[in-house]
Amino acid sequence: MERTLILLKPDALQRGLCGRIIARLEDRGLKLAGMKLMRMDMAVARKHYEAHVNRSFFVGLAEFMTSRPIVAIAVEGKNAVDVVRGTMGATDPQKAAPGTVRGDFGIDIARNLIHGSDSPEAAERELAIFFKPEELLSYERETDRWIIES
Ligand code: RTP
Ligand code: MG
Repeated sequence: MERTLILLKPDALQRGLCGRIIARLEDRGLKLAGMKLMRMDMAVARKHYEAHVNRSFFVGLAEFMTSRPIVAIAVEGKNAVDVVRGTMGATDPQKAAPGTVRGDFGIDIARNLIHGSDSPEAAERELAIFFKPEELLSYERETDRWIIES
């Protein structure tokens, strides 16, 4: 089973969309493994977005992400990284398909509601930024037995 990091960005909290977004993740079959309401500070923003620190949008992105509370979530499931990326939709909500979080709730690339790790390696790195090992829980659900391992 794969784990990935999701961040509900400040716009998701300001608009009261956390419950609806989390419901979509649970509806998909993903299992919550960790969750915290928090403020991202600039040091964490630089670490989390280290691939983007030299991009033109980084300052605006970091200012936004540190401006108000976010929710960090670890989810677990079969191909969780790709499944979450699919549920999120394209980075630019203008291009995101209807039925995705960004395609249904977003209109601006700088306010695209949700982050999801883009590879299993990124997921491992990013999960370690937001969660201590003991904050990620493993537990059985009855429905886990329906999942066919491939
Ligand atoms: P994320 O990291 O948030 O899951 O989004 P992503 O992989 O789809 O997009 P990425 O390329 O990693 O960019 C990270 C975030 O930076 C903001 N962004 N703004 N103004 C711009 O041109 C621009 N490009 C990217 C977005 O908020 C994006 O989610
Ligand atoms: Mg990204």
